[in-house]
Amino acid sequence: MSGILQENSGEEIGVSAEKIQEYCQLVRSVMEARLGGKTPLAFTHTYGCQGNVSDSERINGMLKEMGFDFTDDPEKADFILFNTCAVREHAEDRVFGNVGALKHVKNRNPSLIIALCGCMVQRETVANKIRASYPHVNLVFGTHVISRFPELLYKTLTGGKRVFELSQADNSICENLPVRRDGSVKAWLPIMYGCDNYCTYCIVPYVRGRERSRDAANILAEARGLVEAGYKDITLLGQNVNSYAVKNSVSSDGAEWNFPKLLREIDKIEGDYVLRFMTSHPKDCTEELLDAMAECRHAAHHLHLPFQCGSNRVLKAMNRKYTREKYLDLIKTAREKMPDISLTSDIIVGFPGETYEEFRQTLDLVREVKFTSLFTFIYSPREGTPAAKLDDPVPHSEKARWMKELLDAQEAIAAERCKSMMGTRQRVLVEGVDQRDNSLFCRTSTNITVKCQGAPELVGSFVECEITSARNWILGGKIIK
Ligand code: SAH
Ligand code: SF4
Ligand code: F3S
Repeated sequence: MSGILQENSGEEIGVSAEKIQEYCQLVRSVMEARLGGKTPLAFTHTYGCQGNVSDSERINGMLKEMGFDFTDDPEKADFILFNTCAVREHAEDRVFGNVGALKHVKNRNPSLIIALCGCMVQRETVANKIRASYPHVNLVFGTHVISRFPELLYKTLTGGKRVFELSQADNSICENLPVRRDGSVKAWLPIMYGCDNYCTYCIVPYVRGRERSRDAANILAEARGLVEAGYKDITLLGQNVNSYAVKNSVSSDGAEWNFPKLLREIDKIEGDYVLRFMTSHPKDCTEELLDAMAECRHAAHHLHLPFQCGSNRVLKAMNRKYTREKYLDLIKTAREKMPDISLTSDIIVGFPGETYEEFRQTLDLVREVKFTSLFTFIYSPREGTPAAKLDDPVPHSEKARWMKELLDAQEAIAAERCKSMMGTRQRVLVEGVDQRDNSLFCRTSTNITVKCQGAPELVGSFVECEITSARNWILGGKIIK
């Protein structure tokens, strides 16, 4: 398929459930005619954060409505979709590499439809590169038009030309979408989309648009559905869940909402499940939220609170709007309210202009707080963000040495914590089976992984176990009941 690009058609973005269904049925008939009644197969792959995973679950839900089944083998697929991430250069390079490789798959199967969506394609330079250099990609759609996917796929199948739809419709929220969840134990539940914080290194606000919150009634209904369907671990998602309902009203009855209230309302749903949320921005993490966490019956005592950097000068340059002292105060308050709280964080090493002395302040903070685990990243310049224009004199090899120092420090902390858990009893959720040795993957509500021997039928249930071994940060346990 080639021809004129169709772009930014300006059509309405909010799509009704009926319209979505209508296009799903149209795609179903086109695929039936194309394949002579054989069930079409889709291969979808997701890069990036849980927000993207959650979007993919909705995209897969729509594919199911369109009559597709799913395959792990791109060679067998009639439709391939990559849901992409733009947060670091490395993530984008991987996508380009994998999309490039699809050229051969398409040569072998010329009727294959290849689609790209997600944060990366929302960047103009990326969209232009796909137009010019990846002609085998048939459909490209952005993060704002997910509910139009069935319509866009229909146009791709019937229009005889490539379709690019990258319009930005701020304040739009895609409701009414069918969902095909990846698992049956853990579930992602988006409560808001976009980000307005503009940390100077970060591309997310540019590719995900303005902050907007879902209607509380819709979130509560979805949460109830998840608990009824037997999900045991529910994570509320947003780039900054603490600003839930700050930018737009979220209930038709005019009631005031905020994130702690949402947490308390979901917690009222009866059932045996754990409630988590991510991400919390330290600038908006309040005592009210910590109280709600401590008091809610289902809330895990686990807080993912990215601090990014331990130096106040760098934090200011990052536009994070808190100081090291404020962050440490928050941790102290959280530990007073929940002595067993488990803390995790994100860290960027080598922000432009960061010195080794400033990096040492990150290291000190890590040693002081003793996080359960860390997500650590070497700074990656993102075109269009303010930080990308700053001088960045420290070579990558030097930043890699700092990173190694950080990882060594964290490994020692994790190993010590794991050792201190030896002999303790833990309530864990059995999340899955490790195919390599048939042991069970279990997780404490504080987000620590424990591997136990046991029957696969236990997947999806809570069990008590005793910690019997500690290898670095992997715990081994024996199920007691
Ligand atoms: N909204 C979340 C973070 C989402 S992005 C928050 O504010 O905490 C996930 C993580 O990717 C960030 O916390 C940050 O550590 C990292 N990250 C974002 N942009 C980056 C960049 N340009 N280079 C390296 N790491 C980056
Ligand atoms: Fe990016 Fe900052 Fe928004 Fe997180 S809060 S998504 S780091 S801009
Ligand atoms: Fe990546 Fe987009 Fe998430 S840039 S981290 S997939 S919001």
